[in-house]
Amino acid sequence: MFKETFQRYLTMIEETLAQLPWDQDILNQSMSYSLIGGGKRIRPVLALASAEAVGGNPKAILPAAVAIELIHTYSLIHDDLPAMDNDDYRRGRLSNHKVFGEAHAILAGDALLTYAFELLADSELGQPDRQLLIIREVAVAAGKAGMVGGQVADLAGEGKILKLSEIEEIHKAKTGALLTVSARLGGILAGGTKQQVGALTDYAQALGLAFQIKDDILDVVGDSETLGKPAGSDLRQGKATYVSLLGLEGAKRQLQAQISKALSSLKSFDKGAIFLNELAYYIEQRQH
Ligand code: IPE
Ligand code: IPE
Ligand code: MG
Ligand code: MG
Ligand code: MG
Repeated sequence: MFKETFQRYLTMIEETLAQLPWDQDILNQSMSYSLIGGGKRIRPVLALASAEAVGGNPKAILPAAVAIELIHTYSLIHDDLPAMDNDDYRRGRLSNHKVFGEAHAILAGDALLTYAFELLADSELGQPDRQLLIIREVAVAAGKAGMVGGQVADLAGEGKILKLSEIEEIHKAKTGALLTVSARLGGILAGGTKQQVGALTDYAQALGLAFQIKDDILDVVGDSETLGKPAGSDLRQGKATYVSLLGLEGAKRQLQAQISKALSSLKSFDKGAIFLNELAYYIEQRQH
């Protein structure tokens, strides 16, 4: 059942991405190279599942769900640049800058970010007041108090031994913020109650932290082929991660704690959140 639902969401997401107007020029090529044909699509899946958990129609929020994937993809293109993590592979193929050059990789990222807001603003996403709220929340989550701020802190932490609370803050910002806003936008645009959106927020905050802890673990125990990106990147860059601070077993315990927290946030949903429940286990156990 989980697999089928995941596949149903994936089909909607991939179709929407493919149907965006992609021209043949170099900018469109570099944007779509990184966006299409790879990626687990966890953030848009989370958005669609959150909409469904509050009783809404996931199709109605597709443009917003896909907008988050554009922002996420931009963050990956920039994350791989030589000035950042300097990684040559992503989503099973050469990183954007290895194919299109650094200048075009930077610009493809810029254009994906702005295109995301075009989608968020243009689309008929239901009530304008909800739409406006979401546009603002996505901007905050992607920006200096969210993903970008987290990436800055991640770079500043290279070569340092940080406290657990500091690494937690980095992870919540660089990764948790986009995951959290994915769940919130699904819940809010689909007309969820304050209580439902609150529960989704608690769930996604824990899930977002768990997601990055698992990413830290996979960087150590995974292999590059399965990951589709270079294993051992964190060690090479001297990153402060859950594994560098706590060791593998310590990181796994933190992962389990966040998964438990995510699961307990879903209690009020009763049967409405079976998929979200399974999604937490999927993230705990994922191998890439
Ligand atoms: C990788 O994200 C970067 C992190 C924030 C951990 P994903 O693991 O979701 O990467 P894709 O989208 O599946 O390629
Ligand atoms: C990524 O963290 C956070 C982003 C906002 C892109 P990582 O640098 O650990 O992600 P990967 O391992 O390269 O995918
Ligand atoms: Mg990074
Ligand atoms: Mg990286
Ligand atoms: Mg990583």
